[in-house]
Amino acid sequence: MCGIFAYLNYLTPKSRLEVLDLLVTGLKRLEYRGYDSTGVAIDSPDSKNIVMVKRTGKVKVLEDAILEHFSGGEYSEPVMTHIGIAHTRWATHGVPCERNSHPHRSDEGNGFVVVHNGIITNYNDVKTFLAKRGYEFESDTDTEVFAKLVHHLWKTHPTYSFRELVEQAILQVEGAFAIAVKSKHFPGECVASRRSSPLLVGIKTKTRLATDHIPILYGKDDKKLTSDQDPDSGKPQVLPRSDSTSEFMPLEEKEVEYFFASDASAVIEHTNRVIYLEDDDVAAVRDGTLSIHRLKKSLDDPHAREITTLKMEIQQIMKGNYDYFMQKEIFEQPDSVVNTMRGRVRFDGNAIVLGGIKDYIPEIKRCRRLMLIGCGTSYHSAVATRQLLEELTELPVMVELASDFLDRNTPIFRDDVCFFISQSGETADTLMALRYCKQRGALIVGITNTVGSSICRESHCGVHINAGPEIGVASTKAYTSQFISLVMFALVMSEDRLSLQQRRLEILQALSNLADQIREVLKLDSKVQELAKDLYQHKSLLIMGRGYNFATCLEGALKVKELTYMHSEGIMAGELKHGPLALVDGSMPVLMIVLRDPVYVKCMNALQQVTSRKGCPVIICEEGDEETKAFSSRHLEIPRTVDCLQGILTVIPMQLLSYHIAVLRGCDVDCPRNLAKSVTVE
Ligand code: UD1
Ligand code: GLU
Ligand code: MG
Repeated sequence: MCGIFAYLNYLTPKSRLEVLDLLVTGLKRLEYRGYDSTGVAIDSPDSKNIVMVKRTGKVKVLEDAILEHFSGGEYSEPVMTHIGIAHTRWATHGVPCERNSHPHRSDEGNGFVVVHNGIITNYNDVKTFLAKRGYEFESDTDTEVFAKLVHHLWKTHPTYSFRELVEQAILQVEGAFAIAVKSKHFPGECVASRRSSPLLVGIKTKTRLATDHIPILYGKDDKKLTSDQDPDSGKPQVLPRSDSTSEFMPLEEKEVEYFFASDASAVIEHTNRVIYLEDDDVAAVRDGTLSIHRLKKSLDDPHAREITTLKMEIQQIMKGNYDYFMQKEIFEQPDSVVNTMRGRVRFDGNAIVLGGIKDYIPEIKRCRRLMLIGCGTSYHSAVATRQLLEELTELPVMVELASDFLDRNTPIFRDDVCFFISQSGETADTLMALRYCKQRGALIVGITNTVGSSICRESHCGVHINAGPEIGVASTKAYTSQFISLVMFALVMSEDRLSLQQRRLEILQALSNLADQIREVLKLDSKVQELAKDLYQHKSLLIMGRGYNFATCLEGALKVKELTYMHSEGIMAGELKHGPLALVDGSMPVLMIVLRDPVYVKCMNALQQVTSRKGCPVIICEEGDEETKAFSSRHLEIPRTVDCLQGILTVIPMQLLSYHIAVLRGCDVDCPRNLAKSVTVE
């Protein structure tokens, strides 16, 4: 969860003020991930100590504090080599406050300082172990035990290198984490590692890098760590020794800058050369040299980590002329849906190729059932396309919330095909469900927006939705692109089914018009804004629909909840008389989706039930549908498309509506309270 940013300059003169500026900018790029407090650590002017500044609240607050704290001229002196670490925290253990903010330190002398994302699940055991050895804790976090554990190991194993100390500490902790560590005792060095939480290293050099790979290093297994006595039993406790190395050929550059970050958006303005770390990789920089080590040797490990070139553009992570990222992303949808189809759908030959799964299609066709698994908005994209998948694949399709799926220990078989849908590709619940299914032998297909993400790597195959970076915490363009990816999959599955060709053509035709139709829908913006003025002071909003548009109701209600903190509920119109109708009266705001599709008559029924209870719904209907419009004075008209793609056009007014209500209510659109962009904790 949330953000790590660390910056190391080697033989590249930078003043501490410049370093702080880089760290703060890095944190700003990670802000969208959601957080509640921040902090940085750099060297003191005499380089003999480490200074930290931490603040609750926004990065801006930290920035102001830094300006105040570091005004002296000594901070503007350039230093050749320096390492600074920074953090945005999304509290899991202990309330958001300065004391709990990262970096956390090992001792009063700030010997080791640590930033950490994720959760150390066995922190209580480690804490007890350290407390018995005299360590006193100053925060409520799990993270602090890590800093103190490294310190303890340093005291007991004075010959260990910085990397070895961190490796030993990692071997003792359980849970999910990305960490970066800085030490007074190892100036100019940085050690970082990850397990289930994303972390990458950006590399910036003056000249072109001589290599595309960093070899993975293992060591000899001959040195055993000396034992450490348990104070209770007096018995020696042997800490397992990692496979460390003495000979390696790491990346050596004369002048180099390294960036450690939770995601690429924080480094792209400095360099496009990055290495995505894998679970249990330990990346260490010493004397300007980066090396990557593995804690344990495994047979399927590659020999090296590839340095990848990011294709992301800096503009993609800037707001441009928009007020908020979410607004920008809503308006990007005519382009993002085309990018999802680019190179995959050939409208002239009516052919679809999904390069990422084409080799697996025969296997998928033989499966027993399809399972679509996700959380939140990604789950809704599965709900939205389930019906079409059932129709075009004629397979049973189960749609599951990742957390509930795991709670139930759902039976999974070798002939199941399981789809894992996640924008970030890092969603912890979804990733856990993936591992659960993989263990049981199912074929694992990822639907992700982030190349190199955990879900992408751990899946057998998959589709990148190619929607471009999504920064707003509330997902918009990723939803429509996930939707289209699943529709394309359904089309691929039905390619050789004669009886379905007419239907396929109709859908392909509709896909080719989609971008223009989305542009039409976006023109409703000012009308939606007017509607938001009617609604924003209400306490609740009910959103009703059925069939292909039920997913829009769920997704619309989720958008309203997360952005506006207003109560909202997506209601299956067919369920109305089984309960929800009791909520309807003249004052309850209701929005109904009534389109000319196979469930039109049933939707009209629901509409009548609502209006006859004095409800005055806002209706989303098809352009020029006078009969439906007659039921209410407030309506939004959307262009006609094929039934199974309506959900894309109907969700956009809901995105706009929740956005405008949030603005009117003064909510922070891009960072809703209590939420984070990529939910990397369970
Ligand atoms: C790929 C290239 C694209 C290029 C195109 C040309 C990448 C990332 N994509 O796109 O730049 O223009 O070929 O033919 O280099 N995968 C997973 N899990 C996931 C998502 C994807 O395992 O969740 C795998 C796929 O199985 C595939 C690879 O990642 O092996 C790339 O997937 P994708 O980008 O969807 O493939 P293409 O559309 O063929
Ligand atoms: N578990 C840690 C804490 O509560 C880190 C949370 C995070 O990922 O920011 O401080
Ligand atoms: Mg994969």
